[in-house]
Amino acid sequence: MDPELLRAGSQSHYEDAAYYDQCYRRRREDVRFYGDRIRAVLGDGDGPVLELGVGTGRVALGLARGGVAVIGVDTMQPMLDRFAERLEREPKRVREKVELRRGDLMDLDLAKRFEVVTAPFHVLNHCYTRQELATALRTVRTHLAPGGRFLFDVRVPNPDELRRDPNKVYKGRDVTLPSTGRRYHYRERWDYDTASQVQTVEMAFVGVDDPADFELQVLTHRCWFPAELEAVLHYEGFEVLEHLGDFEGEPLDESHDSQVLVCRPR
Ligand SMILES: C[S@@+](CC[C@H](N)C(=O)[O-])C[C@H]1O[C@@H](n2cnc3c(N)ncnc32)[C@H](O)[C@@H]1O
Repeated sequence: MDPELLRAGSQSHYEDAAYYDQCYRRRREDVRFYGDRIRAVLGDGDGPVLELGVGTGRVALGLARGGVAVIGVDTMQPMLDRFAERLEREPKRVREKVELRRGDLMDLDLAKRFEVVTAPFHVLNHCYTRQELATALRTVRTHLAPGGRFLFDVRVPNPDELRRDPNKVYKGRDVTLPSTGRRYHYRERWDYDTASQVQTVEMAFVGVDDPADFELQVLTHRCWFPAELEAVLHYEGFEVLEHLGDFEGEPLDESHDSQVLVCRPR
């Protein structure tokens, strides 16, 4: 795969953090799941928890509001800035619970161990090779306290999506981009590279009033097939305690499009 495409595919969807929040504002079930599970592991403790790929704080903010401290790491400054803006509107007791760091989970060393490390909402779909996933898992291991938990979710590769014709343009609903306040026609194009198992989604925004008003976002995800994911976790020293198919606690089966994993170091 073209490294430039992979770089763009890990960044461009996260450049416009206000649009990111608009897109995923109804995604709440994972926020509840992570909150409940983290509190169950911590018991009476209040963290801190390490969230890799913390983004705009969709998950972390609720934890902080509930009194759990979070250290959030992300490569994308626009996502961290948006989280920091949200925190400014929070009371001091919440602001004090969050520490944000710009950093790459591939070479992170906070010299600290945590009872819980998380990577919610497809963060590890941005590890594009087995070696990259192994590196990410080593970061998790070096930050987990003995007996600690690693919670994360990635997508289930969807055969219908993988078969999509890359020349076909899929029409979505018109959207308003918060950055401009203007209306856009929304179009998608899907491509899947069978050798690297990388899926690319191009998301185009074409101005309703002015087609020259155009924006393109690219998202690249490595498809992690369930058994492959379990194998890498195993060989990197993790025990998979739960491999769920949704955030309600159902075991993974063919009806699911999420893989939700609870692991601990072996
Ligand atoms: C889909 S978002 C999830 C954000 C947040 N966890 C949530 O649940 O909304 C993926 C996040 O992972 C971040 N990310 C991708 N690769 C990363 C890396 N190597 N190190 C740290 N963050 C990364 C992106 O910048 C983005 O904010």
